[in-house]
Amino acid sequence: MELKEVMGRRRSIRFLNPHKPVEREKIQMMFEASRIASHWGNVGSLRGIAVFRDSAPKEVLESLTSPIAGYQIRLAPVSIVWFLETAAVDQQSDRLLELCRVGALGYGEGKEEAIREQLFPIFKNIAETTKAPGLGEVDCGQGIAQATLMAFDLGLGTCCLGTPHGEQIRQNLGMPESCRILLIQTVGYPAESPEAGGQRPRQPFEDLFHLDGYGNAFPRSQEVVDELTSDRMLQAPAPLPWREAELEYLQKALDLKGNGLL
Ligand SMILES: Cc1cc2nc3c(=O)[nH]c(=O)nc-3n(C[C@H](O)[C@H](O)[C@H](O)COP(=O)(O)O)c2cc1C
Repeated sequence: MELKEVMGRRRSIRFLNPHKPVEREKIQMMFEASRIASHWGNVGSLRGIAVFRDSAPKEVLESLTSPIAGYQIRLAPVSIVWFLETAAVDQQSDRLLELCRVGALGYGEGKEEAIREQLFPIFKNIAETTKAPGLGEVDCGQGIAQATLMAFDLGLGTCCLGTPHGEQIRQNLGMPESCRILLIQTVGYPAESPEAGGQRPRQPFEDLFHLDGYGNAFPRSQEVVDELTSDRMLQAPAPLPWREAELEYLQKALDLKGNGLL
């Protein structure tokens, strides 16, 4: 599938098939995709735990909770706990030298020495700041996004779930204090149609992007929109006419109680 179409098909799939197991190879492919994402200083602080519902210890499964539409975790054959390992920042110097030695950072005579003299002090000064929430989360988000696109390219569905219980989950999973839980990502084969009711709404393009300065809306070319529509990145908007009927069917088929909000 072309990248543009994978991006177009990507949407939060909240109704996964609880009966169809997910191949471990496909989870590995998601992890491989996240591992090669860009990361400041090549620190690589993104980590993931793949929790398979059918093999994970009961206490691990029970510790995965999310307040908004958390029923999804019960349905999902796999839940990935994405977390940020702040201790990765402590190896920053090694990462810089690695980049230098592979020809990715610096050039010319004495470049390695220059990195030690010029860059090491800079990164040493900002080490604690970079461990705090901020840039690291941005990079982890890039990695999770790549894993998500891989999942859709493999015919899987996923939904990211935020959780205020990160610290509890960290302790329950016996992870070191240097870890910060980012989110839980459900993974499985969709029980709902690939359209999942259509592409979800977004804010107006012109409100989001600026040209050559803040407040100067970036002009949206209809030609570009038409091209991305024919490349299937921009798809039919939600709600598709049969969505309510599909939701009714899914609620019965998956024996879902309540209203799907919690
Ligand atoms: C970091 C993050 C946390 C999210 N948390 C939840 C959540 O707790 N429950 C949920 O149902 N969806 C959650 N979502 C999915 C968003 O609601 C969804 O991405 C947004 O509505 C846009 O829709 P789309 O992904 O289908 O395009 C989360 C998404 C992200 C990226």
